[in-house]
Amino acid sequence: MRVGFLHSLIRKEEKLLIDAFETINDVELVLLDDRQLVFDLHSRIDVDVVLERCINHSRAVHGLRFLESVGIRCVNNSEVARICGDKLLTAVALKEHGIPQPDVRIAFTEKSALRAIEEIGYPVVLKPAVGSWGRLLSKVNDRDAAESILEHKAILGSYHHSIFFIQKYMEKRGRDIRSFVVGDECIAAIYRTSEHWITNTARGAVASNCPLDTEICELSLGAAQAVGGGVLAVDLLEAEGRLLVNEVNYTMEFRNSIDTTGVNIPQKVADYVAAVASQ
Ligand SMILES: Nc1ncnc2c1ncn2[C@@H]1O[C@H](COP(=O)(O)OP(=O)(O)O)[C@@H](O)[C@H]1O
Ligand SMILES: [Mg+2]
Repeated sequence: MRVGFLHSLIRKEEKLLIDAFETINDVELVLLDDRQLVFDLHSRIDVDVVLERCINHSRAVHGLRFLESVGIRCVNNSEVARICGDKLLTAVALKEHGIPQPDVRIAFTEKSALRAIEEIGYPVVLKPAVGSWGRLLSKVNDRDAAESILEHKAILGSYHHSIFFIQKYMEKRGRDIRSFVVGDECIAAIYRTSEHWITNTARGAVASNCPLDTEICELSLGAAQAVGGGVLAVDLLEAEGRLLVNEVNYTMEFRNSIDTTGVNIPQKVADYVAAVASQ
C-alpha cells in the first residue's frame, strides 16, 4: 500500500508520523513536499491515500482539492480542511449540527462590528477567521479598545482582517481542553493551563492529562462529525457549567500530548490512514 505524505517542513509531528508508518508492514510512504510539487490537471500520483500535514492552510486546501480531483482519498479531505481552517465556516457547521459554542457574530465593516460587539457585551474576543497558534487574538474589554482594534485591523491588515469574527469572552477556569479524534474514536485529551487567557501550548500553556469522560467524548465526536470527520483536534471551553466547542483543528499538533496522555497518537493516526487506504 502506498501512502502519500503531503508536507512542508518536517516538524516533530511529521517525524513521529513517519516513524509510525514505518512500523506498519505493507505501507510504503511517499513524501510529497508542497515546496517542490507542481500540479498539472492530469498529474498522476501513484498513491492509495494521502495524509495532509501542510503548515499553510491555503496550500493544504488547494493541494487536497487537486489530489481529490485525480481520484486520491485524502485524510483529512479538502472540505474538512476548508471548514476547519476558517472559524466562520466552523461556527456555521457546528450550529448546523447542534453543537454548543460561544456566542458569535460576524460583521464586515467597522461600524457593524462595533454594533455586534456591544450587542454581545464586553469583554469579547476578536480573531482572524483564518489563523492559528493563538496569533492576532484580541480580548476587547471596552469601547475604546474595540474602536482602536477595529480601525487597526481595517487600515493596517489585509482585507482578510476586515472579516470580523467576534466571540463572547468565556470565563474558563484558567485552562481549556484539547481532545483528539481519530475516525470514530476520541483517543485522548489534555488540559492546557495558563495564567494568560490564551491557552495555546505554542503560547506557553502547560499540558496535563485530561481524563476522558462521556461528555468530552460525545461532544468531541459530534464536533468532528459536524466538520466532516477524520483526524481532528477539538478545542473545548469549560464555561457556564458545561462544555462548549471553541474550534476544530485539521492538521493537528500533538507533540505535547503523547507522554502527557500515555496514548501513542501518531500510531493511531497512521493505523487509521492505512485502514482508510485499504477500505
Ligand atoms: N471566546 C473565548 N473565550 C475565552 N477564551 C478564548 C476564547 N476564544 C479563544 N480563547 C482562548 O484562546 C485560545 C486560542 O483561540 P482559538 O480560537 O483556538 O484560536 P487558534 O486557532 O489561534 O488556536 C483558546 O485555546 C482559548 O484559550
Ligand atoms: Mg485553537
